[in-house]
Amino acid sequence: MSIQAIAFDAYGTLFDVYSIGELGEKIFPGNGLALAGLWRDKQIEYTRLRTMCSMYKPFWEVTQDALVYACNKLRLQLSLDAQNALMGQYARLQAFPENLAVLKQLRERGLKLAILSNGNQHMLQSAVDAADMQGIFHHLLSVDAVKKFKTAPEAYQMAPDMFDLPVKNILFVSSNCWDACCATWFGYTTFWVNRNDAPLEELGVVPHGQGKSLTDVIQFLDTQV
Ligand code: LAC
Repeated sequence: MSIQAIAFDAYGTLFDVYSIGELGEKIFPGNGLALAGLWRDKQIEYTRLRTMCSMYKPFWEVTQDALVYACNKLRLQLSLDAQNALMGQYARLQAFPENLAVLKQLRERGLKLAILSNGNQHMLQSAVDAADMQGIFHHLLSVDAVKKFKTAPEAYQMAPDMFDLPVKNILFVSSNCWDACCATWFGYTTFWVNRNDAPLEELGVVPHGQGKSLTDVIQFLDTQV
């Protein structure tokens, strides 16, 4: 088979970020959904600004900055306890229910597996531990090593370097359409896990495969010879 390794995005792809909105709702009734959405958008926006301006700092800190901004914007009083609880949730995310079984199946097929994420190493390790995914991944690749966030080419280059494989022989899997599209530009074979029936980004590039959950990755692999 042409695909010999798989690199997964972390947040929203492997780890379910829904609980962040739930906790947000508990702390700020009526605002949980808005907070979770704005927080995520700002988090990603800050990664892009910092990469464009060569002003890298770790994803944990960027995530915290984005939380402060989102609360200010929504006029929510963020106490230190609330901040710690919301940030702490990032370290305790559950996996989507189908994920562990799919990942085990992929390993049984002899595929090499990695996470390729904006998350810094400590965040990734605690998410893997919380989701009972110890021993599943051959590599946890954090962009912290190159000090540039996705979608910088240096970030995407980490998986082909680590696996020592041509990029097209690596399947990149993300639930973020922008991530799947930019990885396609980079040269990966790509799969978009479109969990929420979102529209395709208008970037003039289409991921090679698409499905509703991680389970659909298995069928996609069967089409790759
Ligand atoms: C990541 C974010 C983008 O894990 O979901 O890199």
